[in-house]
Formats: sequence, C-alpha cells, structure tokens
Amino acid sequence: LARGTTVADLAGRHVVVSAGGTREPLDPVRFLGNRSSGKQGYALARTAVARGARVTLVAANTGLPDPAGADVVTAGTAEQLREQVVKAAADADVVVMAAAVADFRPAAYAAGKIKKKDGEEPPPLALVRNPDILAEISAHRARPGQLVVGFAAETDDVLANGRAKLARKGCDLLVVNEVGERKAFGTEENEAVVLGADGSETPVPYGPKEALADRIWDLVAARLV
Ligand code: CTP
Ligand code: CA
Repeated sequence: LARGTTVADLAGRHVVVSAGGTREPLDPVRFLGNRSSGKQGYALARTAVARGARVTLVAANTGLPDPAGADVVTAGTAEQLREQVVKAAADADVVVMAAAVADFRPAAYAAGKIKKKDGEEPPPLALVRNPDILAEISAHRARPGQLVVGFAAETDDVLANGRAKLARKGCDLLVVNEVGERKAFGTEENEAVVLGADGSETPVPYGPKEALADRIWDLVAARLV
C-alpha cells in the first residue's frame, strides 16, 4: 500500500496481535527473558488500526506507549500471555503471534530472593516447558476461517527451517527473519520472507517495520473470507 492511500480492508475485523517478550520469574528480583522490543508487534497494531480493524494488542514487557485506537492488555509470563491471547482470540478474525514467548520457565519460583553461600557451587537451574500458544491457537480455531500468523527468527538454512516450523505450528502464514547484526531485535527496520501454508513465499525487502506490517496485512486481507 502506498503511503496516504490506506484502504479500510480490515474494517469490521477483530485482529489480535501479541508483542514483546515474556519474562519468567525465578525469584522476586530475577527473571528469564529475551531481547524482543515489541516494535514489530506495535507496528502491526498501528497499521491494523489504520486499515480499519478493531485491534487487541497483548503486550508483554514492552514499555512502549499504547498505540492509539488499539485495546491494550498486558501479560508478563508465557502463561499469562496464553490466557490473554486465547481470551481475545475467541471472536477474532486474525491472530498474529509477534511476541517472543519463552520456551522454558523455571520449574520452581523461590518466594524469597535466592542467596549465594560462601564455598558452595551455584545450584542447577531446573526448567519446564511453556505452552506453545501459536500451535494451540492454530489447532483450535475459535471461529471458522480464523487466520493465524506466526513469526520466527532463524539462522543457518532460514527458509528450510521456516517451512518446517510453519508445518509444525499449523499456522497460515509464518514471517521468517534471518537473525544477524543490525536485523530484527530492537531496530526500527526489518527484512523477512513470509511463508504461506498454501506454498506462497513473499520476500519483504529491508525497510521500516511498518512496511513489513502492511505487507503482512496485505497477505492476511487476501486470505480472509
Ligand atoms: N510461540 C508461542 N509459544 C511458545 C513459543 C513460541 O506461541 N511457547 C510462537 C512465537 O510467538 C512465534 C512462533 O511461535 O510466533 C515461533 O517461535 P519460535 O521461538 O521461533 O518457535 P519454537 O517452536 O519455540 O522453535 P525454536 O525451538 O526454534 O525456538
Ligand atoms: Ca522458541
């Protein structure tokens, strides 16, 4: 879409976007987290509002200002994010999982701060798996025709890894980023290939996260029934 000529092709649609990164608490002062800034998810929320959608943004630890016109709910951990996304997805036409969800969380939460002791080795950190929200949403569509979009940051054989992940997750579109210097985390720009379950492959050149967001909405709008 050219700037200034935005069409309301998402009018009457409810879209859910998750953004940011989950934090899995270890004790009252520590957590396991990741470097996701939330900027790509916020760009998706802003552009969806501009295209006429009702937008629910599920924000995990972003610290970013609420995008105008979006309903923002927050989630700290993967389990909280799952709860909010599943709730919002109940009447959604589209769910986009742009958030970086921690794969694991500490097996136990220490109610008191963990202290080191002189002469003792650090204790091992036991982890357990978090729920896979994208796979769950994809497998149990809350309404017929609901579209589900995932993200993946990959290295090495980026496209093959992306294809395998798309199949494993069961989503309709997977936005694959190659991770490297300058790309993805915390920057204003992004470059990606959007893979479709229908076999399509849409490269999006390096550019503003808003431009990638609009390309994603183009692909979504073309698939909405
Ligand atoms: N995702 C999710 N729930 C999880 C992990 C990931 O919903 N517990 C979603 C992310 O929001 C993203 C997509 O799945 O949209 C891919 O995340 P990624 O971490 O690349 O996938 P994983 O299956 O965790 O694979 P990997 O082992 O490569 O991390
Ligand atoms: Ca992961």
